[in-house]
Amino acid sequence: MTSIFCQRGERPGLNMSDPYFQQLFAARIGGPQYGKGTEIYKFEKIKRAKRKALAEHPERNLLDFGIGENDEMAPEPIRRAMADEINRPENRGYADNGIPAFREAVARFMAREFDVRLDPATEINHAIGSKPALAMLPACFINPGDVTLMTVPGYPVAGTHTKYYGGDVYRLPLLAANDFFPDLESIPAEIRRRAKLLVLNYPNSPTGKVATREFYERVVRFARENDVVVIQDAAHVMLSYGEKPLSFLQVPGAREVGVEVHSLSKGWHMIGWRLGWVCGHERIVRALADVKDNSDSGQFIAIQKAAIRALDDAAIPVQTRAKYHRRLKKLVEVLSRSGFDCGMPGGTYFLYVPSPKGTAGGLAFQNAEAASQHLITEHSICTVPWDDAGSFLRLSATYEAADEAAENALMAETESRLKQIGLVFG
Ligand SMILES: Cc1ncc(COP(=O)(O)O)c(C=O)c1O
Repeated sequence: MTSIFCQRGERPGLNMSDPYFQQLFAARIGGPQYGKGTEIYKFEKIKRAKRKALAEHPERNLLDFGIGENDEMAPEPIRRAMADEINRPENRGYADNGIPAFREAVARFMAREFDVRLDPATEINHAIGSKPALAMLPACFINPGDVTLMTVPGYPVAGTHTKYYGGDVYRLPLLAANDFFPDLESIPAEIRRRAKLLVLNYPNSPTGKVATREFYERVVRFARENDVVVIQDAAHVMLSYGEKPLSFLQVPGAREVGVEVHSLSKGWHMIGWRLGWVCGHERIVRALADVKDNSDSGQFIAIQKAAIRALDDAAIPVQTRAKYHRRLKKLVEVLSRSGFDCGMPGGTYFLYVPSPKGTAGGLAFQNAEAASQHLITEHSICTVPWDDAGSFLRLSATYEAADEAAENALMAETESRLKQIGLVFG
C-alpha cells in the first residue's frame, strides 16, 4: 500500500510528515514550501503578545486599541427586521447577484447621502462584504504582467489577488509629507503603461485621511490620461468627520473611470453580517457580477432585506459617527497630553500617530513594531504598528466600554499608564 506521506528522500526538500500533495500547492501561496514558513504575521504577533500580557499580568486591565472592528451589535431595528425576514419562506433560496429591492435601497441611499443617481438595475451589485468585492475586481482586469497601483499602508486584498493572477503591485506610499495622498505624478512611465487598476481607500485606513474633491478630480484626470480603472474603497465613508461624507462618484467624470466599493460593516455595526456593494460604471459592475456569479451565490436574502431597513434609516450612520467621533476626541486629548503628535482624523475609527522612539528610561525602539511590542508586553496596551511608510502606531476607538463613564475611566487609565512609561519621540 502506498503511504499517504512522502517517502524520505523521494522528493527533495520534503519531510516524511508532509502529505503526498505537498508538491502540488500553487506557487501563489508558497508552492511546496506552503505551511512551512516560520515568519509570524503582524496580527498574529499582536494576538500572541496579547495572550501573554493577559496570562502574565491578570491584575492589569488590557487597554485594547488594536481591534479594527465595531464594538457593538447592529441597532435593534436592523436586528428586528432580520428576525422577521429569517422566518419568511421566500427568503430561503440562492440570492445569486442580489435582489432588486436591495439595489434600489442602495440607489436611494447614494442619492440621499451623496446626490449620486445610479441605475439600480445596471450600476449597482451587492457583494458578501466589500472584502470579496476587492478580491474579485482584479479578476475582471488583471492578466499576467499587468500592474495594480495601490496605496500603502492599506488594505491589501486587491493587491494579493492581483498577484494571484500573475500581476504586479506598484506601491504608492502615503506619507505625511504628501498629506497622506499618493503622489501620482511620481509613477514611472513604464509602470503607467502596464497599470490597469488604481486602488484607493478614502476615508483611509489606517491614516484616517479623507479625500478632497480636488484630489478625486486629479484621480479622474490621471485615470483618463493613463487608461487606468479606479477602484475606490469607501468602507469607512459613513465615518467621515467634519464635512459631509464624500463619494468618489460625486466628482465629474468619476463614473466614467471606475467604481466605488461600499460596506454595511462599519457605519451600521454590521461587520459580521457580510454585506456591501459595488457601484459606478455599468460595464465594470457587470464584469464584477459575472465573476461573482461564478464564485458565490449571493448573500442570504434575509440579510439583504434587513440591510434595506438599515440603508433607509438616515439616523443610524449619524449615531455611529457621533460615537466614534466622541471616542476619538478623547483619545486625541489623552495621547496629546502623553507626548504623541496627533490630531482628529478626517474619518475612520483609527488614529494614526508617529511611533515613539523610546522611553525616558533609555529604551530605544527601532521601529513601530518594536514600540508596539513593548507597549503590549510590558504595559498591556495594545496598538497596531505600521512601518510601511514611516513608523506609525494605529489606535482604534473600537475598544469595549459599556457607557461614557466606562470610556472615561479607560481613558484615565490609558493616560496614567502612558505617563508612567515616559515615551520619547525626538
Ligand atoms: C479599508 C477597508 N476596506 C474594506 C474592508 C472590508 O470590509 P467588509 O468586508 O467588512 O465590508 C475593511 C475591513 O476592515 C477595511 O478596513
